[in-house]
Amino acid sequence: MIEKSILKKLVDICGKDNVFTDSEILSLFSRDETEKFSFLPDVVVKPDSAGKISSIVKLANEIKMPVIPRGGGTGLSGGSLAVKGGIMISMEKFNKILNIDKDNFQASVEPGVITQVFQETLEKYGLYYPVDPASKGSCFLGGNLAENSGGPRAVKYGTTKDYVLSIEFVSPQGKLIQSGASTIKNVTGYNLSQLIIGSEGTLGIITKITFRVLPIPLFKKLILVAFDSPEKAAAAVSEIFINGVIPSALEFLEKDAIKITEKHIGRLFPNSEYDAHLLIELDGYYNETLELDIEKIAEVLYKFDCSEIILADTPEKMESLWILRRAVGEAVKSISQYREEDTVVPRSKLPELLKGVKEICSRYNIRSICYGHAGDGNLHINLLKEHLDDNYWNNEGIEAVKEIFRHTVSLGGTISGEHGIGYSQKNYLNIALTEDAISLMKTIKQSLDPNNILNPGKIFI
Ligand code: LAC
Ligand code: ZN
Repeated sequence: MIEKSILKKLVDICGKDNVFTDSEILSLFSRDETEKFSFLPDVVVKPDSAGKISSIVKLANEIKMPVIPRGGGTGLSGGSLAVKGGIMISMEKFNKILNIDKDNFQASVEPGVITQVFQETLEKYGLYYPVDPASKGSCFLGGNLAENSGGPRAVKYGTTKDYVLSIEFVSPQGKLIQSGASTIKNVTGYNLSQLIIGSEGTLGIITKITFRVLPIPLFKKLILVAFDSPEKAAAAVSEIFINGVIPSALEFLEKDAIKITEKHIGRLFPNSEYDAHLLIELDGYYNETLELDIEKIAEVLYKFDCSEIILADTPEKMESLWILRRAVGEAVKSISQYREEDTVVPRSKLPELLKGVKEICSRYNIRSICYGHAGDGNLHINLLKEHLDDNYWNNEGIEAVKEIFRHTVSLGGTISGEHGIGYSQKNYLNIALTEDAISLMKTIKQSLDPNNILNPGKIFI
């Protein structure tokens, strides 16, 4: 229970209609999309200005109460969970697109704008924001920065961090800081924006973002191709790049991922009896280039004994395949309790990663469903609890995850490509980072946030 005097101060800052303590709202804000975790915040507030956030954070420092910033609540590592209770700041009122500067290919937004809304608005100006997480219909741009979201198009276009020119954020002590500028180049002091991006709400609360954006590609094509083994599909991935083609997305789905998704969304997928699929998107400004690229890709794929190549060349056909791909995560959730691991390796190591994962999971007798952004080496590995008892799941299950992560790191990879460490992955951080590196990160956190106010209980044990 939060003290009345604190609630009164929050009401003074945010207004009484923007402070919530009723159990229904607290329960709504106790979860994100991560496994089955749930932690109640003490209070949820919905401020609408950076000044108000600054006042809340200053108050929290006085009373030593955690502050948890929250975007769309779509996170997959528990980054926005109130694991130590506290004041949850919902950023939903920061939902304005502030400026679109077509001449300079830039756009400024508040952080509560939904990613897809931003993309569709830009499209009307002939502009393109390529970062395209599966949750784009409900995630917030601020959350995308906090987690440095990636998604399928990272293979050609990079991740969220590659599009941020400047940000405004509230520091853990309540100061409003501007970092960066509306310029492509900038070597003016430390790059604070890149420190805040991916810091999962532990170093600052983002209140404004200026993105660089691109001219929209005029042509797109999507191909779907099946293989009689996941290893062959994974091996084909690198060959495509080696032959000089950079697709705008290159996704891998093993048979199980497709089967559960077909059931979940009630639609059949072409060639779903095959063991693995690649979904390959090409985009560009000239149709002829895309056609030549498709020919080259086809030559490569046939060397790996692929099925017929299915071409989706209308927006409707493409979207119907993307809907299925984006639904895989939801489909996994619907069948069993699970753990979602977000491994990433250099692209050419993908076949070894996959082979290792299957070997480890079969040794532990745990079913795994793998899919993800093969083009950038980012494999989502879902371990399913199904019939396993709690004890086995919580002991051997964790050992299996550790083995998978050690294998990933041994291939030159790391333990999260795009979902973050947040709450659910923090026990594994020392598999990927040395004690010295972790200690340096903790020193940064400690010096910016000496009272450990901002999103405590995340990233580090
Ligand atoms: C996806 C999410 C889980 O790729 O990252 O579907
Ligand atoms: Zn993903």
